[in-house]
Amino acid sequence: MEVKDLEAAALLAIKEAKNPEELESLRVHYLGRKGALTGVLRSLGQLDPEVRRRVGQEANRAKAALEEALDQALQALKAAARRLAATAVDVTLPGRRSPRGRLHPLNQIMAEVCDIFLHLGFEAVEGPEVELDWYNFEALNLPPDHPARDMQDTFYFDDKVLLRTHTSPMQIRTMEKRRPPVRIIAPGKVYRRDSDITHSPMFHQVEGLLVDRGVTFADLKGVLTAFVHQMFGPEVGVRFRPSYFPFTEPSAEVDIECVICRGEGCRVCKTTGWLEVLGSGMVHPAVFEAVGYDPETYTGFAFGLGIERIAMLKYGIDDIRLFFDNDLRFLRQF
Ligand code: PHE
Repeated sequence: MEVKDLEAAALLAIKEAKNPEELESLRVHYLGRKGALTGVLRSLGQLDPEVRRRVGQEANRAKAALEEALDQALQALKAAARRLAATAVDVTLPGRRSPRGRLHPLNQIMAEVCDIFLHLGFEAVEGPEVELDWYNFEALNLPPDHPARDMQDTFYFDDKVLLRTHTSPMQIRTMEKRRPPVRIIAPGKVYRRDSDITHSPMFHQVEGLLVDRGVTFADLKGVLTAFVHQMFGPEVGVRFRPSYFPFTEPSAEVDIECVICRGEGCRVCKTTGWLEVLGSGMVHPAVFEAVGYDPETYTGFAFGLGIERIAMLKYGIDDIRLFFDNDLRFLRQF
């Protein structure tokens, strides 16, 4: 083969080489001890003197050109390998964790309370926080000059419009729309002009209402005892203490055995051994009349409980403001 053709074939192969090993075998193939170009140089002796000179020069020039091309190709391959290594992804590295949020402790307790009543067959309803005097007071057997209105310090917009002071207006809103049987809970925010370590101007309640034919105080006791036992544990003592609410008669507050001292008497339960957890009672006939239910046909019970209070008792928290400061060191504990 002519030196020129040999050189051209070698240059093409060098250009297409994909790695240093291929380049090395090309070098051996053309320039090695038994290589093609080496063979040409070795056989120069058999040629005529003037042909020998020409072919000799030609072969030496081709050898230098191939050596140069091999060297350049090797440098180019090495540079490409370095670039690849610099941008390589190490798939064995551990992944980056994305921060995970969680529910606020009050929302956790809210969900837990609602879940218990939903499993008992209650349905959750919601209503406005900006409320009419009629729903918040009047229809709940609290006429305008009723002294019991002093029980709650109210944020008023004007004579008739206010921030609801409890979730009880949802009793009225529900009964206005439905006929018995009624079995609802109403979770939500309520507002009172009150602020200290156990009171916040905004807090959360869950209202409950059950109305049907033949509902008795025994049903109230059964449902609320079941709730307390699920919420605080089946061994916790429960008592129903006579109380007063304008919209229930008779009324009862529900106490549980103090979760701190187990009924022994301590600072939290003010040495009584008992903690108040909710208000309740049999729906007052005047409330049924306000919504057009016949009190001779239907009876029912209602209850209201405070979420912050339950969370404080359950977790042993002594300052309600901790829930609203949103200090992550506090919130992360739940
Ligand atoms: N609404 C009362 C309160 O806020 C609680 C309550 C609800 C009492 C229903 C009896 C029946 O204190």
